[in-house]
Amino acid sequence: MTEGVVQLHPLPAETRPLSGLYLSQNLRQHDRETFVYSNFVTSLDGRIAIPHPDKPGMMVPPQTANMRDWRLFQELAVQADIIITSGRYLRDYADGRAQEILHVYDDPDFADLGEWRQEQGLSPQPDLAVISGSLNFPIPEVLTAHGRKVIIFTTAQVDRQRVRQMEAQAGRVVVAGEESVDGRSLVRQMAQLGYRIIYSATGPKVLHLLLAGGVLDRLYLTLANRILGGRPFASIVEGPLLEPAVDMTLHTLYYDAAGLDGLGQLFAAYNVG
Ligand SMILES: NC(=O)c1ccc[n+]([C@@H]2O[C@H](COP(=O)([O-])OP(=O)(O)OC[C@H]3O[C@@H](n4cnc5c(N)ncnc54)[C@H](OP(=O)(O)O)[C@@H]3O)[C@@H](O)[C@H]2O)c1
Repeated sequence: MTEGVVQLHPLPAETRPLSGLYLSQNLRQHDRETFVYSNFVTSLDGRIAIPHPDKPGMMVPPQTANMRDWRLFQELAVQADIIITSGRYLRDYADGRAQEILHVYDDPDFADLGEWRQEQGLSPQPDLAVISGSLNFPIPEVLTAHGRKVIIFTTAQVDRQRVRQMEAQAGRVVVAGEESVDGRSLVRQMAQLGYRIIYSATGPKVLHLLLAGGVLDRLYLTLANRILGGRPFASIVEGPLLEPAVDMTLHTLYYDAAGLDGLGQLFAAYNVG
């Protein structure tokens, strides 16, 4: 990953190394009570997920997934106190389709990020917040190793017996909404639990609840220079019309000419509001 990227915003334009691009944004420096961010890699026609070829459900398209975007994903994840994931992720994990989110200890390419996390005095892995209405997933022991906490955020409708089972196995189950997990309640309760830097690594329904709750601060979008077509697909946000629409302002924009084997991609980041 020796080729750099061109910073297009803010100006003046300059070439910068890919490694360190998002780490240098130093998300932990924010002095507000919480800082909530999310990211997606998307095709130009807005596809973040397409059907898995031989299993039920969706997956990130292999046409857009790439190592340079993955490096920046790791740089975002390593800065978090807690990573938001979903019941879907744990179901995928259980059937062998999903992997650990942060790879800074088992991938030599990201060893610098593991060292950075240690230097900050942070726990080896961010804790995990699992958003789920169904509570229909197992919690693998590996996810609660080395003192990592897994906190499940769910609705008031859940089966009490299932909650007791999950608490015995995983720790904490928190109600954050009546029929559906509510973004504002979610983030308020995370702040009460002491979490400040909150990264959502999950999909379009969770992005919707964060936007509808007015709690998202920044969205990172990698735009791969490809059009995929096809149906069904997932886009970055799924849910009712957001009223009013959520206004975003451009925070940074980089052109990665080397991305996708020289095809190119844009790394954009937007602040909400
Ligand atoms: N290209 C990318 O950058 C990117 C990024 C993220 C995800 N993806 C892909 O997009 C696809 C969809 O992602 P996803 O399934 O993680 O995202 P999602 O659609 O946001 O969330 C799915 C799960 O989260 C729970 N959930 C969501 N909103 C909820 C609410 N308001 N109340 C209660 N529970 C709620 C539900 O769990 P229960 O079913 O357990 O109730 C639901 O099944 C996947 O294939 C993923 O790989 C792509």
